[in-house]
Amino acid sequence: MDTQDAQDEQDAVREAAVERALDALDLDAKTRLLAGQDTWSLPALPDIGLRSLVMSDGPIGVRGVRWSAADPSVALPSSTALAATWDPSLVRRAGRLLAQEARRKGVHVLLAPTVNLHRSPLGGRHFECYSEDPYLTGEIGTGYVRGVQEGGVGATVKHFVANDAETERFTVNNVVGPRPLRELYLFPFEAIVRTARPWAVLSAYNAVNGTTMTEHRRLQKDVLRGEWGFDGVVVSDWMAARSTAGTILAGLDIAMPGPRTVYGPALAAAVRAGEVPESAIDAAVRNVLRLAARVGILDGVPALVAQEDLPASVDGDALAREIARRSFVLVRNEPGADGGRALPVDPAEVRTIALLGAAARDARILGGGSAEVFPAHVVSPLDGLRAALPEGVRLTYAVGADPSDELAVAGRGFSVHAVCRDVAGRELGGEPLPNGQVMWLGDLPEGVSYDALHTVEINGTFTPSESGAHSFGTKGVGAFVLTVDGQVLFDGVQIPDADDPFEAFFGSPVRRGEVELTAGEPVEVRLVHTVTKLADAPVDAVSCALVHGTPLRDPEELLEEAVAVAAAADTAVVVVATTERVESEGFDRTDLRLPGRQDELVRRVAAVNPRTVVVVNSGSPVELPWREDVAAVLLGWFPGQEAGAALADVLLGTEEPGGRLPTTWPARLEDAPVTQVVPTDGELGYDEGLFIGYSAWEKAGAAPAYSFGHGLGYTTWEYKSIALSRSATTATAPDTATVMVRVRNTGPRPGREVVQIYLAPSAPDPDRPARRLAGFASVDAGQGETVTVEIALPRRAFEIWDEAADTWRLAPGTYAVEAGRSVGDLRLRATLEVKG
Ligand code: BGC
Repeated sequence: MDTQDAQDEQDAVREAAVERALDALDLDAKTRLLAGQDTWSLPALPDIGLRSLVMSDGPIGVRGVRWSAADPSVALPSSTALAATWDPSLVRRAGRLLAQEARRKGVHVLLAPTVNLHRSPLGGRHFECYSEDPYLTGEIGTGYVRGVQEGGVGATVKHFVANDAETERFTVNNVVGPRPLRELYLFPFEAIVRTARPWAVLSAYNAVNGTTMTEHRRLQKDVLRGEWGFDGVVVSDWMAARSTAGTILAGLDIAMPGPRTVYGPALAAAVRAGEVPESAIDAAVRNVLRLAARVGILDGVPALVAQEDLPASVDGDALAREIARRSFVLVRNEPGADGGRALPVDPAEVRTIALLGAAARDARILGGGSAEVFPAHVVSPLDGLRAALPEGVRLTYAVGADPSDELAVAGRGFSVHAVCRDVAGRELGGEPLPNGQVMWLGDLPEGVSYDALHTVEINGTFTPSESGAHSFGTKGVGAFVLTVDGQVLFDGVQIPDADDPFEAFFGSPVRRGEVELTAGEPVEVRLVHTVTKLADAPVDAVSCALVHGTPLRDPEELLEEAVAVAAAADTAVVVVATTERVESEGFDRTDLRLPGRQDELVRRVAAVNPRTVVVVNSGSPVELPWREDVAAVLLGWFPGQEAGAALADVLLGTEEPGGRLPTTWPARLEDAPVTQVVPTDGELGYDEGLFIGYSAWEKAGAAPAYSFGHGLGYTTWEYKSIALSRSATTATAPDTATVMVRVRNTGPRPGREVVQIYLAPSAPDPDRPARRLAGFASVDAGQGETVTVEIALPRRAFEIWDEAADTWRLAPGTYAVEAGRSVGDLRLRATLEVKG
């Protein structure tokens, strides 16, 4: 039996088991199965041998069902970093690791990947998406989904669709024309659904063209299932399902989270009232049971990936480091006065390296929100470089400028535990805390019931490592009493300070006072929080934190210290970063500036050290106003737990930085052609149509700081020739064209090049982008070696969405097939005639 036959037989066995299970369920059980029983799982139905299906965020790690550093996870680099590798096979390996993590944590379905597009650089959650380009997004997402599902875990492609910004995300109506909807925003979903066959899709909060996505019958049923053949589960984003009949009739299978939802008993009642036919419930239950069978939690049906077929175990730390260095994008590396380039730094030729910046010591490794995970360890740039530098090279460090003046969750030096009490002050239970944060989402410490819970205390000690005035504060909404070393610093109520309900609930850190402390002398800390219970919240949630800041120093003094350290070194490495208040889920950005005095730090360091290398830790573009004044700029994204180890690999030249920009990097926000993320009267018009990202820059005739696709390695490349496969010259349907590009490594060491192919219709057409990425491949070559890379161009690259006919249509004509290093550095061109 060949593989296809075996698969068909397996599918038939699974479908039969699904039908049997469905037949055995009554209406109440069926509707119960379609709703979360808590924040992350569906109920078990023991009568049919169904265990509880568990979901967890994604995308850079698997948090599991507890929001706690006590249950650590491997933290990979941000999604933008994954996309910057331009390497779906590497991303596939990331997926396998995530599946391994999910299995370790008892998670069956990972809530990832995020494949929304970088429409405006102000999108606050872009670190969690891949790119401005739909094709690159689709390819990377396909690799991710394949990897996760090869590991027997379901992937959930999200957020379907057009959740490309965060402002008013629950209600915004995104008005998108049919062509951009198909050619841009649906494009990656379609590519992934068709090629990687994901087991789940997550329906977004927002509306598209007047209909909220969870009720969008046309997109969820007709397009996703009908046209694309999706046979997985459509799950709501958390709290995105707002109606009962409206959502089930529109094809939403699961409403999350629970226990209070619009499905469950409400859905059974809707059937009994004749508002919803039972066949709609059956269709949804079938999808859920199929998913359960695939992940192996329906008795009697073997999991889609048998235990013995699981991929070999992956070393998470090693993979996190490999992906990070492969994702770093070296956008600038200029020769110094002596002709040598700043990077890589040759340890044999330097005596002192100065490392500067708060993020060099306290690494900024991930973006905020539901994507957060808690790694077991983090290698900061300071740790990474210290470990990698040979004896004899001195590493000096200064903070220089702190990007944030906010207090952080109490961590280093704190030893705390939580105590839960009822209204009479009786202890109900508690647990040790790995840091000063309590985040219980439907999952309270043993013995504690939400109804009885009245107060949570975070109690313990703090042993400072430096003397001075330490700041303490609170994070969360509701009543707090904060006491440090016997002094009451705050006794009051914090009201919500954000519009987004999640943001409001998590709250922002508020400084409540300072206490003079002595290094090494422990003091008692105690935060008492009266739990705020929201009547309409779907889950029983408790969130609060004790926050802390080390003694503040004069910012001017910090800068001067850094300048002195930099001046005395052979090379200065400045690490700049955004903060959680800049890039996170739940809000958009208002500017692209680096927070705090980091720009000034770079300028002043560069003024005293000609070999200044700037490492930028941000999930998406920031303005780099000093970029022409420094020797090298390395974009490091949010690099994950192995940040510093990977950085040392690249700075010292053990490895090349392998990344290419997955998104255009503007010099200034004002230059960006598409910026709007704020709806007007609840509506956000995607007025730019097809012109986002590099297509918009090209249309505007504007030059960014760094083009889409740009990135330097440590060698150089000559693009020697381009040729097209014979069939390509008459690429009538259903032919595809293959491009062959010869490149030569002309530089001093082996390297890896990402060859990019763009397709440009020759006849000027104001309704079409000047060129679009149509294929890419990476290639390794030794010093002096010439290699040929073959890149197949899919038929879809020659198609446009025909609005009148409501279908894809081949766009005949002459095309330039361009090969190059970025959209701004095209080296070779061939011509292709496409006949209709
Ligand atoms: C986010 C999703 C996430 C979900 C569960 C939502 O607010 O938009 O991406 O999967 O929460 O954490």
